[in-house]
Amino acid sequence: MYKMTLKYYFFLCSMILVQLLSCFTQITAASVPATIVFGDSSVDAGNNNQLSTIAKSNFKPYGRDFIGGNPTGRFSNGRLAIDFISEAFGLPPTVPAYLDPAFGIQNFSTGVCFASAASGYDNATADVLSVLPLWKQMEYFKEYQRRLKAFQGEKKAKETLNNALYIMSLGTNDFLENYYTMPGRSRQQTVYQYENFLTGIAERFIIQLHRLGAQKIDLTGLPPMGCLPLERATNLMYVSNCNENYNNVAKNFNSKLQHLVRKLNRQLPGLRLVYSDVYSVFADIVRDPMSFGFENADRGCCATGLFEMGYVCNRNPFTCDNANKYVFWDAFHPTEHTNSIIADYLMKTSLAAFL
Ligand SMILES: *[C@@H]1O[C@H](CO)[C@@H](O)[C@H](O)[C@H]1NC(C)=O
Ligand SMILES: *[C@@H]1O[C@H](CO)[C@@H](O)[C@H](O)[C@H]1NC(C)=O
Repeated sequence: MYKMTLKYYFFLCSMILVQLLSCFTQITAASVPATIVFGDSSVDAGNNNQLSTIAKSNFKPYGRDFIGGNPTGRFSNGRLAIDFISEAFGLPPTVPAYLDPAFGIQNFSTGVCFASAASGYDNATADVLSVLPLWKQMEYFKEYQRRLKAFQGEKKAKETLNNALYIMSLGTNDFLENYYTMPGRSRQQTVYQYENFLTGIAERFIIQLHRLGAQKIDLTGLPPMGCLPLERATNLMYVSNCNENYNNVAKNFNSKLQHLVRKLNRQLPGLRLVYSDVYSVFADIVRDPMSFGFENADRGCCATGLFEMGYVCNRNPFTCDNANKYVFWDAFHPTEHTNSIIADYLMKTSLAAFL
């Protein structure tokens, strides 16, 4: 009898808790009024369309599964993880690119993307293909703040900027496009020194964002970059296997980012900086693609899937029919389906704190 009562009591309590929680999430549903994005092609919604660079994807078959079948400059067949994340916060289903003339400050008031494909933490990385370096993305953000204040008024704009979710997703190109490809950095620094150089830039960037009013910031870690189809295809040691050296660099760099997150949360008042672990979910997908509904994890859908990205994907007769069966869209970038799985995972882990 006593046991029954206790059980019933717990049952009641848990019901109340569930209701309180759902009530709480409803009240705070609008707690993130905008997503503000910095980074590389993992999150570029089309800024590179406006630059003279070859790092572009505003042509078919890119975007063939996007709303309206439009190639927007996203490096995928459809939406990016940031688009799914925006939607999950009750915001628009796509995050507009700041340089896209089709959008104005009204559109940017609920989300804006400053990211640029082929960019990185290091200025020298952005220089390789003449894209927006991180400092330039910051300059555009400052301009955006002025425009938002003119549009929403000082007080409302400040609220938006304080409560927005800031997403940073970059770093892969610093290693793959720059350090391991161009002669400069690898002559000056060991890869461990280079990692520290990059985390130093990340640190100064976050401090500056916080000074400009950001409180909720997501710092996204590197994926298992040695398993990108291009890195497998060019793996000289074990052709078609993941490049474990690159994966180890990614893991090591990620542990430094996590250390930075703990440190800055202690140092900066009001900061809620989270680390998003895309490495583990991505590694799970690549290790066991079938269990996520994929049939292929080692080649991209576009062309042969081994080397092609950007212009070489255009009008290629070998491109696959159903991108949903592929983890990768081109030799370097995930499909929309992979992006949605990653976004779901982040909403349940690091980003759950902001729901
Ligand atoms: C931008 O916002 C305006 C005003 O809400 C809207 O009419 C327009 O369709 C939006 N532009 C795009 C490209 O979504
Ligand atoms: C990158 O370039 C900007 C603009 O020239 C400069 O202010 C900044 O110090 C540079 N960053 C590094 C780490 O060299």
